[in-house]
Amino acid sequence: MCVCKAVSDSDLRHAIQNLGINLSDFINDTGITTDCGICTRDVKKLYKELVGEDGKEE
Ligand code: FES
Repeated sequence: MCVCKAVSDSDLRHAIQNLGINLSDFINDTGITTDCGICTRDVKKLYKELVGEDGKEE
């Protein structure tokens, strides 16, 4: 998912679903989206899928 920080989508999935970590804490912990930023859209999309929001934020 995030090439710069070597974080996979399963890492994010695990953190959200099994550890109960919210997205901003996960970003703070891992640094994902803070380097090139290319992964930002995918991170937000997956997070919304995991937490069941409708994904309308632009
Ligand atoms: S791929 Fe995630 S910050 Fe570059």
